[in-house]
Amino acid sequence: MRGLGRTFLPVAIAIAIAASPGIARADSLAPTGQWSAYTSGNAPLPPMGWNSWNAFGSDIDEAKVMGSAEAIVRFGLAAKGYRYIDLDDGWWLKRRLPDGRIIIRTANFPSAATADGSTSFRPFTDRLHAMGLKAGIYSDIGRNSCAQLYSTTGLNQPEGTLLEREVGLFDNVDRDIQLYFAEWGFDLIKVDACGIRGLTPDSDWVSSGKFRALGPWVDSESMGRTDIPKVRGLYDAVRRSLEKHNPDNDFVFSLCLWGAANVRAWGKDMGNMSRTSDDIAPTWGRMLHSFDSSVRRPLYAHPGSWNDPDMLFIGAGDFDANHLVEARSHLSLWAMINAPLMIGYDLREAPKSLIDIFGNAAIIALNQDPAGNQAVMAFDSNDIQILVKTLADGDKAVAIFNRTAAPLKATLTAEHLKYLVDANVSLTDLWTGETIGFRDEREFDLGSRETLIFRAKGTRRLANGLYLSEMPGNVNPAEDGVVVPEAEPMIYRPIFWAGTHGIGEPPRYGGWGGAQADATPYGLRLAVAGRFYETGIGVLANSRIEVRNAGFDRFDAMVGVDDSARDRGHAVTFLVYGDGKLLARSQPMRFGQAPVAFTARVAGVKLIEIVARSTGIRGPGFPVVWGNAALTK
Ligand code: GLA
Repeated sequence: MRGLGRTFLPVAIAIAIAASPGIARADSLAPTGQWSAYTSGNAPLPPMGWNSWNAFGSDIDEAKVMGSAEAIVRFGLAAKGYRYIDLDDGWWLKRRLPDGRIIIRTANFPSAATADGSTSFRPFTDRLHAMGLKAGIYSDIGRNSCAQLYSTTGLNQPEGTLLEREVGLFDNVDRDIQLYFAEWGFDLIKVDACGIRGLTPDSDWVSSGKFRALGPWVDSESMGRTDIPKVRGLYDAVRRSLEKHNPDNDFVFSLCLWGAANVRAWGKDMGNMSRTSDDIAPTWGRMLHSFDSSVRRPLYAHPGSWNDPDMLFIGAGDFDANHLVEARSHLSLWAMINAPLMIGYDLREAPKSLIDIFGNAAIIALNQDPAGNQAVMAFDSNDIQILVKTLADGDKAVAIFNRTAAPLKATLTAEHLKYLVDANVSLTDLWTGETIGFRDEREFDLGSRETLIFRAKGTRRLANGLYLSEMPGNVNPAEDGVVVPEAEPMIYRPIFWAGTHGIGEPPRYGGWGGAQADATPYGLRLAVAGRFYETGIGVLANSRIEVRNAGFDRFDAMVGVDDSARDRGHAVTFLVYGDGKLLARSQPMRFGQAPVAFTARVAGVKLIEIVARSTGIRGPGFPVVWGNAALTK
C-alpha cells in the first residue's frame, strides 16, 4: 500500500447536512462540543521525578528521600525535568482518633515532629520546594494500603488499634486530601487500590481481626468480579477533592489501579496518569509486560492524562550498570510512549553510566515533546517492534526495538514514518548523536534487547496536514464502543507473584477492542471491502471520538465497515460534528460495501467529533474504519 496517500474512491459522496438532528442528551454518542479527557491538574507533559518504592520498598526515611532529592539536583537531573520527589508506601504511623488526623512516622521523618504531636510534612515539602522540586505522597482508595496487606516484613507499617491502622482514603477523602495538599503542601498523590481488593470477609486478614472487610470491588484477574462503576466513583471523589483543595491547579492525580476495573477506558477522564498494569520488576519479562500494557493505547493518552506503565527500574536487576543496553531500551521505550519518567533507584551513589542514561536530554525531549503524541506502532511482532511518534515541530521520533535475546535485523521504511519513499530521510541516533540517511528503506542490525532510537526528518506524505494517527494527543475516544470489557491478549505474560504455582498467567486488563491508530480494534490491518488502509482510526461501532482541531480546514476519511466485522446484518452511519453541530453524515453502510469518501469543512471549528452509530449491535464484533482520516489546510 505504499504511497497511497489520501485517495478518494468515487463510490458515493457523503451528504453534508447543516442542521443538528436533535439527539437526546442521555445519548452518549450525542456531540458535546467539549474535550472530555482530563486536563485539570499539572500534567501537560508526562510527570518526571523519583519515587521511593523501587529503590527502597517501605524501608524509607527522611535521609534516604532527601539524599535522593539532593542527588537529583546535584547530578543535573532536576534541571533536565526530574522534579517530583514522591514518597511511596511506608511513611505513615497511624490515623489518630477520634479526630481522624493522619500521623507521620517521625522516627523515620524527624522533621515532621511538632510540639503538640500532630506531626506535619510541611518542613519536608518546604525543603523540597526550596530546592526547586515538587513533593508527592501516597495513599490508598480503601482503608488499608498494599504493604499493609502484602508486606512480608511488616516494616514501617501503621500501628495501633484496627481503626488507627486504617490510614487509607476510604470515608476520609476530603479530610486527608485537605491535609496532604492544603496543609502539608504536597503536589502529587498516588492512590493505590489494595484496600478494595483483598479484604473479603473470609480472608485471613479479616477473619484474624487484623483489618475490617471492605468490598472487594476490584479483582485484577476478573472483570466479572469487579464493580467498575463503584471503583470509578471512588476515584472520582478523590478528583473532586483534589480540585477543591488545589485552587491553583498545582496537583497531579496518579491512579494506581494496575489496569484493573477497566481503568484503561476511564482513567483518562479523571487522572493525570493511570497505571495500565501490575507492578514492574527488574526483569526483562516484567518490563515487557508493563510496556505492552500501554503501547497499544496511544489514543487513550493526552496532555493531562497519560498512560502509566509503572516506574523506571533502571539501576536494578536486568537494568543495572552491567546491563546498559537493557537500561537504555527501558528509557527509550518509556520516552516513546509518553510514560511518566519516575526514577526508582537510590541515586545517592549512582554510577555515571546510569546518570548518563537518565539524563539523555534528547530522549527526555521526546518524552516531554509539547504535542503529547504517544508513539504509534508502525510495525508489530513478538520479535521486533517499530514505534513512531510525531513531534510538535513536525519531526518524527522512531524506535526500533528488539524484544528478544538474539541479535536481529530490521528494516525501517519511509512508509513506517509516513514519509515519501523517493525523498531523503535523515536519522539522528539519540544515543550516539550520529546522523545517517536513506531513501525508501534501510536495514539495521540490532543486538540482543537493543533499541535504536532516532529523531527523523523526511518529506511528509501528507504535506498540508496530519493524519489522525499522527496526532493521538488530540484524539480522544470518549466512547470507544466497547460494551463488555475484554482482557487484552497481546501483553507479554511473565511469571508473576505466584511463581509457577497454579495454572499460569491469564490475559489481563480490559482494553481489548478499544480504538486504535492505524489498526483495527483487534490489531488487524484496516480494510473495507478488500481495500486496505495503512493509516486511519479503527474503532467499534457506537463510538464517538473527539478531535481537537489546531487550525485545519478540512476533515477527510474513507469510511466503511471493517472486513473483520462478524456482524453482517446491521448498518452503521458515520457522522462528523463541529463544535456540537452536525457537519456531515454518511448513508447507512453495511459489511462488504465499498468505502465512502467523507469530507467535512472544519475551518474555525475547535472540536470535531466523529461518530459511528448503529442500532441493534449488542456486543463486540463490529469494527468500523475511518481510513486515511486526516485534517488538512
Ligand atoms: C502497589 C503499587 C506499587 C507500590 C506498592 C506499595 O503494589 O502498585 O507501585 O506503590 O503498592 O505497597
